[in-house]
Amino acid sequence: MCGIFAYLNYNVNRERRHILQVLFNGLRRLEYRGYDSAGISIDDGDFSSFPRSSSDGSLSPPPLVFRQEGNIESLVKSVYQEVVATELNLEKSFTTHAGIAHTRWATHGEPAPRNSHPQTSGSGNDFLVVHNGVITNYEVLKETLVRHGFTFESETDTEVIPKLAKFVFDKANEEGDQTVTFSQVVLEVMRHLEGAYALIFKSRHYPNELIACKRGSPLLLGVKENDDVCNGSAFHDAKFLLQNSNPKELFLSSDANAIVEHTKKVLVIEDGEVVHLKEGTVSILKFNNDKGRNGGSRSARPASVQRALSTLEMEVEQINKGTYKHYMQKEIHEQPESLTTTLRGRLLRGGSWKAKTVLLGGLKDHLKTIRRSRRIVFIGCGTSYNAALAARPIMEELSGVPVTMEIASDLLDRQGLIYREDTVVFVSQSGETADTLLALEYALENGALCVGITNTVGSVIARNTHCGVHINAGCEIGVASTKAYTSQIAVMAMLALAIGADTISKQERREAIIDGLFDLPNKIREVLKLDQEMKDLAKLLIAEQSLLVFGRGYNYATALEGALKVKEVALMHSEGILAGEMKHGPLALVDENLPIVVIATRDACFRLVWFLRNYVILLLSTAWHRHLLISNSKQQSVIQQLRARKGRLIVMCSKGDAASVCPGGGCRVIEVPQVEDCLQPVVNIVPFQLLAYHLTVLRGYNVDQPRNLAKSVTTQ
Ligand code: F6R
Repeated sequence: MCGIFAYLNYNVNRERRHILQVLFNGLRRLEYRGYDSAGISIDDGDFSSFPRSSSDGSLSPPPLVFRQEGNIESLVKSVYQEVVATELNLEKSFTTHAGIAHTRWATHGEPAPRNSHPQTSGSGNDFLVVHNGVITNYEVLKETLVRHGFTFESETDTEVIPKLAKFVFDKANEEGDQTVTFSQVVLEVMRHLEGAYALIFKSRHYPNELIACKRGSPLLLGVKENDDVCNGSAFHDAKFLLQNSNPKELFLSSDANAIVEHTKKVLVIEDGEVVHLKEGTVSILKFNNDKGRNGGSRSARPASVQRALSTLEMEVEQINKGTYKHYMQKEIHEQPESLTTTLRGRLLRGGSWKAKTVLLGGLKDHLKTIRRSRRIVFIGCGTSYNAALAARPIMEELSGVPVTMEIASDLLDRQGLIYREDTVVFVSQSGETADTLLALEYALENGALCVGITNTVGSVIARNTHCGVHINAGCEIGVASTKAYTSQIAVMAMLALAIGADTISKQERREAIIDGLFDLPNKIREVLKLDQEMKDLAKLLIAEQSLLVFGRGYNYATALEGALKVKEVALMHSEGILAGEMKHGPLALVDENLPIVVIATRDACFRLVWFLRNYVILLLSTAWHRHLLISNSKQQSVIQQLRARKGRLIVMCSKGDAASVCPGGGCRVIEVPQVEDCLQPVVNIVPFQLLAYHLTVLRGYNVDQPRNLAKSVTTQ
């Protein structure tokens, strides 16, 4: 939740108008992280004429702070109104300037200007802070600061931070330490903070400097040396970039989206690090023995560390909408490509059938341990949980290890059992969901082998798990997860193939799945052709209050995920129901008005069993195949029972099955391409994504920024 951003131009002339634009664009890129309110701080005068150590003791003018309830565009509008009202000179040029910005998803305190960031130390704006995360001990800190005469104007947890900084700074000065540095002040503040945070500090006492620090929440530094002014030979020397005082532009951001359009040279700031941007140099201090997000003992003296820059592997086009109207629409339609990237280099299909195999580099040293596990436990939240649920049957079938499912928050609430002999798989698009992270800490404490499946390279889950696989779906900006879901299922299917790779009896089955994976992007291209059909269905459902979705087996997850998509963006009540539970309650809801989607696609195995049964060789089929036959025919009987009660049915079935799933007509049918059974959820979710998208647009809601939601849920 929340996005923080900063822009520091050093020794490069930039007009105030340009500085504002960079800050606003940064916020636009981060808006998916929260859009309740936003704010920025820029300088009033040119600080180079107000050094802190000026002989007459004069202090630089207070930085300007603009905060506004609503989305980024509301902030932009209000800033320009203020510019006109106060006759602020947009053409004023700054040789060096440090600006900070924030977009908020409210946790403590309603969306309102006083609760927006930057939060300040008081009327003189001596210290300003933008924050992503939650300070868990803010109440205690607040009480102490109130006793020392501070007054608070917001309900946020963040406000204690700038006030604590002022307290530390004033105390040092009272005690005669006029030379206390910005990083010393922030290090002292950090010592008192508990919780998760990424912070950027700006201060009128330290003009043109910024401090960034973090524990738990993500933060990156981008470094751009200016081609016009700088000698090109120095560009590629990472250490040089950090230490020289050449003209440069520096960016701090919660994620790479807001940096990539300026530079690809980044430093992923680590927990416990305090990064000081001053006079063109970047110095990093780090707490040793950092005990993590809940504080704990740390060595008194933070050490200076040297870090090299890395190169972002993303393109600006990835974060633009291109020809699409919305990010969600773009991300739905780019699934053939995102799946191709997910699968690239991981499926090996040689000349002979024996050569078909899966290669997951991040796991190869751990596969033996995973095979010997007592259980495989999947943990995730929301869509990521649903993806794991879709992959559960194939994981059980191919690994032969029992698979249990855990919603991260529920595991933590119950303090459910995790054993040393368990393999725990953490599924998370962002890699920074608070509940999933806490469940990871819990599993690590319990000694389990922890595997991460995430879309975000360098995320906390990617770094703190023992091993893992990146889904490589590319940047997902729409708040509703779409392409990450399909790539997560594909990765977990490959994980199942890799774990089960030593079982000879399942070789044929594995090969069929590998073939299916190869062909998956094409099948998604085919199912995307249903776009207009789903738009027509959306028109039909536009005024409905409720939608039920029945699924079973591989597609129970599709029912949950389809309903979640409709619910979260179209703001329509919808519920995914395990079809086997229909008679145990939900059937009471069925009448001629309530729309119900029944997922009744055929399993690939169904065809095989049908074939075998017709030739009376059923005895030769495996127990698994028999089970799927029963499962599929059960779904047919669900349809019959719903029809008998005049249910208003929409049936999703395999291509060519319309007549058999709905004999005599009377239901609306969505025909999808048939694929290998365990991959069918990847195909089946696409019409639901399209339906949710069109319903939302037709209902006039914001598709990419659904009410009350944000992309990365970094608070519990
Ligand atoms: C729904 C959605 C959420 C996330 C959930 C977990 O469309 O996006 O349900 O799936 O908040 O997020 P990650 O996968 O980042 O851990």
